[in-house]
Amino acid sequence: MIRSPLMTVMTDAVMKASRSLKRDFGEVENLQVSRKGPGDFVSAADRKAESILREALEKARPGYGFVMEESGVVHGTDPDHRWHIDPLDGTTNFLHGLPHFAISVGLERDNQIVAGVVYDPAKDEMFIAEKGKGAFLNNRRIRVAARNAMDDAAIGCGLPHIGKGDHGLWLREAAAVMGEAGGMRRWGAAALDLAYVACGRLDAYWERGLNSWDIAAGIILIREAGGYVSDADGGPDPLLKRSIACGNEFTHRELLKLLKKAKS
Ligand code: IPD
Ligand code: CA
Ligand code: CA
Repeated sequence: MIRSPLMTVMTDAVMKASRSLKRDFGEVENLQVSRKGPGDFVSAADRKAESILREALEKARPGYGFVMEESGVVHGTDPDHRWHIDPLDGTTNFLHGLPHFAISVGLERDNQIVAGVVYDPAKDEMFIAEKGKGAFLNNRRIRVAARNAMDDAAIGCGLPHIGKGDHGLWLREAAAVMGEAGGMRRWGAAALDLAYVACGRLDAYWERGLNSWDIAAGIILIREAGGYVSDADGGPDPLLKRSIACGNEFTHRELLKLLKKAKS
């Protein structure tokens, strides 16, 4: 598979940041046993990865803007392009030494996400997609699962925690989904949840209370893998509504029905 110049820029930047993140992940295990814990160390690892990404992308594509989890919004001189960056998605996993976290970089052009990279350093899995060019995992073409029965579908989800999200609504949604689904999973890294739907490991996924850097790359991965994406209420703009529901044509539709039932 020949990577486009844009994909090369994105994957090079991500690989550079991932080397730093991987080194720091090795340290986290040692810090679990310290009284202070790895909290500050992980925040520093996160910021370091973000600045590596920013520097590499800025050098390759000067003028593009940024929406970054750690450093916020930076307006570029080019009003049509901006990167959505999560340097470490799955912070809680990383902090606890759980090897399931990712770097997520999406590119928005003229208000549309046109390219995305999600990289899992622990498993060395690189998910990439570009508008009109398909989605790939480590250079192999990926497609969403073809499953069209909810009773053997694996459905991913987010899970609100202390101080975050509508716990009551989540409980109603989970009750509705678990009443129909073959199984539910909460992995703890939204970018990878989306990548897993894109490659058929999960049949569908929903979550509320997300940010553009969590989902920009994953959205294009799923669309290019033949999947369907909406906000969690079925509307067309997950970035604006900060929620997402996705799957193949069948599982996406069925999931939306269940979420609607939970809300009524
Ligand atoms: C979080 C993860 C998690 C999701 C949260 C996100 P972070 O991102 O993606 O799976 O449930 O909503 O905020 O904080 O680890 O970058
Ligand atoms: Ca993050
Ligand atoms: Ca995130």
